[in-house]
Amino acid sequence: MDGKSSAGNAPVDVEQFKTGMRSLAGAVNIITTAHASHRYGMTATAVCSATADPPTVLVCINRLAATHDAVKKGRVFCVNVLRAEDWELSTSFSGAQSGEGRFRTRNWTKLSTGSPVLVDSLVSFDCRVVKTITHGTHTVFLGEVDQVLIGKKGKPLLYSEGQYAKLASLTLGEPLPEGLDYWGF
Ligand SMILES: Cc1cc2nc3c(=O)[nH]c(=O)nc-3n(C[C@H](O)[C@H](O)[C@H](O)COP(=O)(O)O)c2cc1C
Repeated sequence: MDGKSSAGNAPVDVEQFKTGMRSLAGAVNIITTAHASHRYGMTATAVCSATADPPTVLVCINRLAATHDAVKKGRVFCVNVLRAEDWELSTSFSGAQSGEGRFRTRNWTKLSTGSPVLVDSLVSFDCRVVKTITHGTHTVFLGEVDQVLIGKKGKPLLYSEGQYAKLASLTLGEPLPEGLDYWGF
């Protein structure tokens, strides 16, 4: 990287960018894959729905992460959305454990792509890679969803300001007014 923005402006200060990004609360997920008889997995918040037509998610993975090359070669991954009580699993999958050791606790199964699926996730999206975009240190993988496993009910695990957090509802459980459904447009 030459430190210049693509418009040629003075670059935004990276520390300022990182400080700003700490304010974005994100759902915590474990991205898994299987390649050449090995299982891989890592914690990730850079995950979102790309489009529902066709059902597609996108994940951003650092090119230095072990999971990166396995996804690139195997072209499959599964997004396992964590429940709040599973914050220790997030710690294991972000460096406290490595390799196969990350899968030593909990029950893991497989769906059609063969990627590890956490049985007690909130939900798991089993995906096949349809597009990749490399930008800077990361690759964006777009994955078309092959299968969805609705897991165990619970609250999502969040990450905000460098800490794990749990969701607190502001609307006392009332659903959004009709017509304001996120998917309605
Ligand atoms: C809450 C949290 C969110 C993270 N989100 C991402 C992410 O979206 N993309 C990414 O490449 N790394 C992310 N990481 C870092 C990876 O989980 C971490 O570097 C991991 O150890 C990489 O796997 P490896 O050790 O097998 O290379 C996150 C870490 C934490 C704790």
